[in-house]
Amino acid sequence: MRALVVYESSFGNTGMVAEAVWRGLADHVEDAALRRVDVAPTSLPPSLQLLVVGGPTQAFGMSRPSTRQDAQAKAGLPTTCPTTGVREWLHQLEPPNRPVYSATFDTRIHSPHVPGSAAVGAWRLLNKGGFELTAEAESFWVEGLKGPLRDGELDRAYTWGVSLSGLLLGAVRR
Ligand SMILES: Cc1cc2nc3c(=O)[nH]c(=O)nc-3n(C[C@H](O)[C@H](O)[C@H](O)COP(=O)(O)O)c2cc1C
Repeated sequence: MRALVVYESSFGNTGMVAEAVWRGLADHVEDAALRRVDVAPTSLPPSLQLLVVGGPTQAFGMSRPSTRQDAQAKAGLPTTCPTTGVREWLHQLEPPNRPVYSATFDTRIHSPHVPGSAAVGAWRLLNKGGFELTAEAESFWVEGLKGPLRDGELDRAYTWGVSLSGLLLGAVRR
């Protein structure tokens, strides 16, 4: 595995963005993988060169158990199941012992009245954890709490994935 996209999603929108980012990467880089955060490894494979992490912005930042529970209730799902989010996963993630590129994204509501970004929070944790942050934290926009994504956001996510693949080209050209 050379590139890994890890994502969290309560209503599916961030999952769709993650898949588009992954497609952009996988179309240009061999061995790109996509994993939901609850099944993502916390010990990164030695071959990994790029880690991309994305999640929904909830309560002005990365989700917490309480905000995920709130989201589950809004989605009509049982709120008793334990959940893992990007925040918890990043805290468990083993620091790299070599340079690993990293980038973060989130989904959030496009409004000047709703501040905060999960991607910025994840960016800070990765930076503190010794990863090489290569891009500014990126946001993709949803129309409302449950989505949908704004028109064109999946294309933008794909293009962002392609641009991230450029970091690895040269070493990993198909
Ligand atoms: C509990 C909760 C809190 C939220 N707080 C914010 C927020 O502070 N800022 C924001 O832009 N969107 C907020 N949202 C909207 C989420 O960003 C939106 O649900 C998410 O982008 C959808 O992605 P998903 O389908 O992958 O869960 C919140 C949603 C929930 C459920």
